[in-house]
Amino acid sequence: MNILIIFTILCTILIINSFPATGVSTIKAGDQLNLTTSQLVSPGGNFTLGFFNTTNYRYIGIWYTNDETYKVWVANPSTPIISSSGVLMIDPNTGKLIIATGGTTLVNISDNQSSPDSNIAATLQDTGNFQLKNETDNRTLWQSFDYPTNVLLPGMKLGSDLRTGKNWNLTSWLSNDIADFGVFTLSWEPTDEASQRLMIRRRGQPYWTSGNLNNQTFPYMPALNSPFSKYQYNLSYVYTDEERSFSFHGINGVQPMWFLTPGGRVQDADNFAVWTPEFCYGYDSGDGCVADSNTIDQCRDENDKFNWLNGDFAPMTSSSYDDNSSLSMSDCMVRCWNDCSCLGFTTSSNGTGCITWTGAKSVDNFSISPTGSAVLKYVLISPIPIISPNPSKGNAKNWIWAPIVASIILLLFSAGLLWYLKKNKLRREEEKRQKRDDEYFLELIASDSFKDASNLESNGRKGSDLMVFSFATIVTATNDFASENKLGEGGFGPVYKGKLGDEQEIAIKRLSRTSGQGLVEFKNELILIAKLQHTNLVRVLGCCIRGEEKMLIYEYMPNKSLDFFLFDETRKTLLEWPKRWNIIEGVAQGLLYLHKYSRMRVIHRDLKASNVLLDESMNPKISDFGMARIFKQNETEAITNRVVGTYGYMSPEYAMEGTFSVKSDVFSFGVLTLEIVSGRRNTSFSYLDKTVNLIGYAWELWLKGDALVLEDPTLADSHVIHQLLRTIHVALLCVQENALDRPEMSDVISMLNNDTMSLPFPKQPAFFIGRSASKSTSVERKLEDYSVNDMTITVMKAR
Ligand SMILES: *[C@@H]1O[C@H](CO)[C@@H](O)[C@H](O)[C@H]1NC(C)=O
Ligand SMILES: *[C@@H]1O[C@H](CO)[C@@H](O)[C@H](O)[C@H]1NC(C)=O
Ligand SMILES: *[C@@H]1O[C@H](CO)[C@@H](O)[C@H](O)[C@H]1NC(C)=O
Ligand SMILES: *[C@@H]1O[C@H](CO)[C@@H](O)[C@H](O)[C@H]1NC(C)=O
Ligand SMILES: *[C@@H]1O[C@H](CO)[C@@H](O)[C@H](O)[C@H]1NC(C)=O
Ligand SMILES: *[C@@H]1O[C@H](CO)[C@@H](O)[C@H](O)[C@H]1NC(C)=O
Ligand SMILES: *[C@@H]1O[C@H](CO)[C@@H](O)[C@H](O)[C@H]1NC(C)=O
Ligand SMILES: *[C@@H]1O[C@H](CO)[C@@H](O)[C@H](O)[C@H]1NC(C)=O
Ligand SMILES: *[C@@H]1O[C@H](CO)[C@@H](O)[C@H](O)[C@H]1NC(C)=O
Ligand SMILES: *[C@@H]1O[C@H](CO)[C@@H](O)[C@H](O)[C@H]1NC(C)=O
Ligand SMILES: *[C@@H]1O[C@H](CO)[C@@H](O)[C@H](O)[C@H]1NC(C)=O
Ligand SMILES: *[C@@H]1O[C@H](CO)[C@@H](O)[C@H](O)[C@H]1NC(C)=O
Repeated sequence: MNILIIFTILCTILIINSFPATGVSTIKAGDQLNLTTSQLVSPGGNFTLGFFNTTNYRYIGIWYTNDETYKVWVANPSTPIISSSGVLMIDPNTGKLIIATGGTTLVNISDNQSSPDSNIAATLQDTGNFQLKNETDNRTLWQSFDYPTNVLLPGMKLGSDLRTGKNWNLTSWLSNDIADFGVFTLSWEPTDEASQRLMIRRRGQPYWTSGNLNNQTFPYMPALNSPFSKYQYNLSYVYTDEERSFSFHGINGVQPMWFLTPGGRVQDADNFAVWTPEFCYGYDSGDGCVADSNTIDQCRDENDKFNWLNGDFAPMTSSSYDDNSSLSMSDCMVRCWNDCSCLGFTTSSNGTGCITWTGAKSVDNFSISPTGSAVLKYVLISPIPIISPNPSKGNAKNWIWAPIVASIILLLFSAGLLWYLKKNKLRREEEKRQKRDDEYFLELIASDSFKDASNLESNGRKGSDLMVFSFATIVTATNDFASENKLGEGGFGPVYKGKLGDEQEIAIKRLSRTSGQGLVEFKNELILIAKLQHTNLVRVLGCCIRGEEKMLIYEYMPNKSLDFFLFDETRKTLLEWPKRWNIIEGVAQGLLYLHKYSRMRVIHRDLKASNVLLDESMNPKISDFGMARIFKQNETEAITNRVVGTYGYMSPEYAMEGTFSVKSDVFSFGVLTLEIVSGRRNTSFSYLDKTVNLIGYAWELWLKGDALVLEDPTLADSHVIHQLLRTIHVALLCVQENALDRPEMSDVISMLNNDTMSLPFPKQPAFFIGRSASKSTSVERKLEDYSVNDMTITVMKAR
């Protein structure tokens, strides 16, 4: 028996040994690595070298092992592999690294002269560098970092070696399908040590410049090293007689990369634009675009822009096709730009060749055909038309305009925002924050709305759900903002009910014209809308902008908000315990989503009963993101001197010091939960000869073991005692004085749902005796204006 076991183990070991782990990182002279069947993997596993396919072509390249999206290097950009076989080897006769198919050399990868030697080996390093070395003296004979394609990795250089005359430039692919050298290069061009900059050239001509490197950033790369960016770069340069070069590393472990798109933009691995402008049109537009008299035509002006349109689009004008396959999308754009009668352009499906449409420049010249191929097309539109979605007919075709119009509006809007910022001299601190937010806003626009324009690869556009409504549509829908259609007054303006045609009901939040702050909040909501989708968050359908007028269009919630039911003696009877439990759970899920949402951490800052809307089945939906703040994942806490929120729901550290974090929302959630359980507002009342608020009341009852007294009497028939007690317990944990003592939303959810989980005993919560607000209205104040002593008064006065 034992022998059998030992035998089995031995066999297993033998079998394992005869199939060495796939993680081979080195090939030696004479080795043939059959890349059809295996790959090279760097020692730490970070990078993989092997075959990859684009839609139509086959290459050998290097990519991140855990994310194949970006090919960080291509061995044979100009020579795609047609046959199904291919080996990577060090040619024993020449000592060169080659790709061979069917016994003949297809590509000489290493081109500098080495000589046959059995002591040379090529290794894929954990930096992504593929190095051919003489193992006798460790000299590097060749390395992939010296032959960059379209990706700059940490440690890779841009610039030139003055001794050898070697240049390190990035070159864009011809199209997302074709790795061959395209029209854009990114190079490092110092004139002297104080003036060192990056330059993008289009077919050799200056196209865009970063401005001079200064204090770890470039003037025209505002997103770079912005505090909101996921990646923080340590930028470094060498400026000596031997070498002029630029390189970067990631700070705090996260390694960034730059990718030069076929459209001439620099993006990072998350498709975030490191450089923002979509295209340069030959004007010095103040964002790094280089003025070029060759590409400006008298028939174009600075308002003319290309906007992308993807889908069934067939202009009713003539088109022409040039099948020259060295033409890329960018060439077609220039060609169209310089032809006064050109309205739009595209390429054939592999991203080469030019199709252009000509006609008179008017939006009426376009129509959308029901059939037609889904090829990415660029259209020239000027000036900006606002197209009514014409909802009464429910006509699908107009909606296709929404993404274009939305992107134009967003562009215009951000321009307006910048203008607004310049015009209004805000306080210095405020201005700084604003600027950061603004850069982030631009960054977001770049990453979402325009992502697909530059990412030509995506033939199927990721749907942008944001629609743009014309003012006329909204006026009709609300019967000219008739007072009977007014649903209520939100934080920053009235909310109306509207009807699109006969069916769809919508809610319209009209931001007050006068409140300057409305713009900031509008921007905030727009940012969030683009990103947030969850069943427990109210869905935003679109926006409407007309001059000063800014409106957000939401799905309509027939059952109004939670406070409408909860604090009304008759209506509250409709909220039996199972419904209330469902609302607590739903709000918790919605908050968890906000807090943990992929790249962003969203702090709502104004969670309260009136911001929880109810759908027809009484499912809760959190609304009103006007005060929300976006955090990057590694950012956990912020301080503001502009405290916004609602007294009674605000955590003590936020109300007093302006410090807020996810734990501030947890606090508000705790208050809300107590309100839902008790059916009463968190206002102060007299209890045992003391003035306490709801939190204080709950705490006193809890200490006495009487927590059930808190229960809303109307619940009596429907309650589930253990669930109720558990809910009160969790709520008390959420309103702890010290933010660190409060659980995260993920803990809250497991505490609520797991009956067997033991919960810590709550400490004395944060409740302010004698301090409360009589109405739960959102307020705003400047912290610096008040001393702590004044605060009670301020709070009392809060309107
Ligand atoms: C890649 O392309 C080659 C030839 O074009 C084809 O034989 C192979 O199946 C493709 N591989 C994948 C994974 O699509
Ligand atoms: C690589 O391996 C595949 C499958 O084992 C084989 O069909 C192909 O001929 C090999 N290619 C070379 C060049 O040896
Ligand atoms: C590779 O280099 C050798 C010289 O070392 C040359 O004879 C051969 O033509 C080259 N092959 C290709 C495909 O460039
Ligand atoms: C490797 O280095 C040894 C010692 O410097 C030298 O003799 C040999 O020629 C080198 N081989 C190659 C291929 O450069
Ligand atoms: C390799 O990957 C590990 C883990 O993902 C990371 O910590 C390390 O920085 C990477 N190394 C390089 C050189 O990118
Ligand atoms: C070459 O590098 C390897 C690993 O870094 C080292 O073990 C070896 O001693 C070096 N050889 C010479 C000749 O420097
Ligand atoms: C090959 O190029 C590398 C750098 O790219 C250089 O360090 C090396 O000296 C070159 N080898 C020969 C034999 O010229
Ligand atoms: C790299 O860019 C520099 C500056 O534009 C240019 O002089 C050089 O020719 C380029 N080198 C390559 C290999 O493209
Ligand atoms: C450099 O940038 C940092 C952070 O952006 C800033 O705090 C510092 O004042 C700047 N230094 C100079 C000399 O501009
Ligand atoms: C940035 O890199 C330089 C060397 O390239 C190093 O001396 C410096 O400490 C780095 N700074 C940070 C903040 O990592
Ligand atoms: C194709 O386009 C390229 C780039 O514009 C140009 O250099 C070339 O002459 C064109 N070829 C033909 C046949 O028109
Ligand atoms: C791209 O596609 C067109 C037609 O579809 C074809 O004529 C052309 O050769 C292709 N280009 C490349 C580089 O394969």
